[in-house]
Amino acid sequence: MRVGVIGTGHVGLVTCVTLAALGHDVVGTDQDAEKIALLGAGRAPFYEPGVEELLAEGLESGRLSFTEQPAEAIAGAEVVLISVGTPPHASGEANLIAVENAARAVARHATGECVVVEKSTVPTGTASRLTAIFERENPDRARDFAVVANPEFLREGRAIEDSLRPDRILVGAHSERAFAEMRRLYEPLIEQGFPLIETDIASAELAKHACNAFLALKISYANAVARLCERADADVGAVTAVMGSDARIGPVFLEAGLGWGGSCFPKDLLAFDRLASRLGYDFPLLREIGRINDEALEAALDKIKDALWNLEGKRVALLGLSFKAGTDDTRFSPAVALAKRLLDAGAEVAAYDPHAAANAKSEVPEIDIAAGPYEALAGAHCAVLCTAWPEFASLDLARIKDSMAYAIVVDGRNFFDATEMLAAGFSYYPAGRRIHR
Ligand code: UDX
Repeated sequence: MRVGVIGTGHVGLVTCVTLAALGHDVVGTDQDAEKIALLGAGRAPFYEPGVEELLAEGLESGRLSFTEQPAEAIAGAEVVLISVGTPPHASGEANLIAVENAARAVARHATGECVVVEKSTVPTGTASRLTAIFERENPDRARDFAVVANPEFLREGRAIEDSLRPDRILVGAHSERAFAEMRRLYEPLIEQGFPLIETDIASAELAKHACNAFLALKISYANAVARLCERADADVGAVTAVMGSDARIGPVFLEAGLGWGGSCFPKDLLAFDRLASRLGYDFPLLREIGRINDEALEAALDKIKDALWNLEGKRVALLGLSFKAGTDDTRFSPAVALAKRLLDAGAEVAAYDPHAAANAKSEVPEIDIAAGPYEALAGAHCAVLCTAWPEFASLDLARIKDSMAYAIVVDGRNFFDATEMLAAGFSYYPAGRRIHR
């Protein structure tokens, strides 16, 4: 199929390369000329495993191209996917101006019947707004446009896998033509047996927010249980293992630690709360999920203070800066938030991250970025494991202990083994587990 993708950020670019890999002819467009030039040269503007490989394949096969001109992506496209940013307003509500502008461009430049897909996470009700745009901007051809909600569920760091081996494909539409076109778009995946869920548009839009809020709820629940475990001398790992063995609860997304961050959960949770109140429903649970997440960061800060007493003049080394392993994304990263809190309290902050150092440095220039983990830890009074990068598992504990000013480790992801840490001579502060001073 001929496909246009408006917005080549994380979701948009992954959509471009995976749809090209499924055999479609894809043209991606973005207002950022630098990004388009980079993509045309086969380079991804962010770190995401597998993207550059598929990008190269797509460009080489001729099935994938990029342009600064929206018209070139839209004209002749049977399907146009809108994957532009929806950043939060100060109120928490999603800013949908980029979505509106993308729809206007589609109304102007589409040349035939066209399915217009909301790929960005948008509040329920957006599809009716888009339909109204087509009716106003192009009244004679309004019937050519069919709006569809097709939210993505991809995780950063596993975005290609999540797109090509999805748990489910969700399509919300109001016409058989739109459903049929979307089945054609995802035919190679449907044929492989990946489930397709078809709903009305409002349900599809709402489902995306409901999923993300529920996932954040699971993590916050585990973190609240961790706070209780710390007070009851219980072990959060043991408690969540019991919870996870109940098939109704499930074992994933129950890892306690510094809490969740990233480009989706914080933004989506706020937007969902704003949407709920706009619809006249007060949903305080959503606010609690965020509050418990903030508390998880405070709990780690309290442990650092407990270990170091005064923070002024102390050097704290952060291992990991991205909001989770497998990505260079530092948006709403708990590690970055912790760095800011430590700096405000007068500590020096050194840090190492295999991929996210540059992004973190541009957000918080005061962080002393080290070339490797050992360099970050040398002379530090406390180490804080913030991101569970696999490479931290093979750190030489004896070497670290010798080079640090104080042998103190605060484990923000319950990453290390307590027995090993004690044997190596560290004071060890995990989350929701017994502290060994
Ligand atoms: C998330 C959703 O998973 C995805 O479906 C949606 O489309 C976009 O948002 P992502 O932001 O890439 O994806 O991150 P995810 O892997 O879900 O992790 C979110 C945050 O939760 C990370 O900060 C992670 O470290 C944290 N987390 C996750 C925990 O603290 N504990 C857990 O048990 C799981």
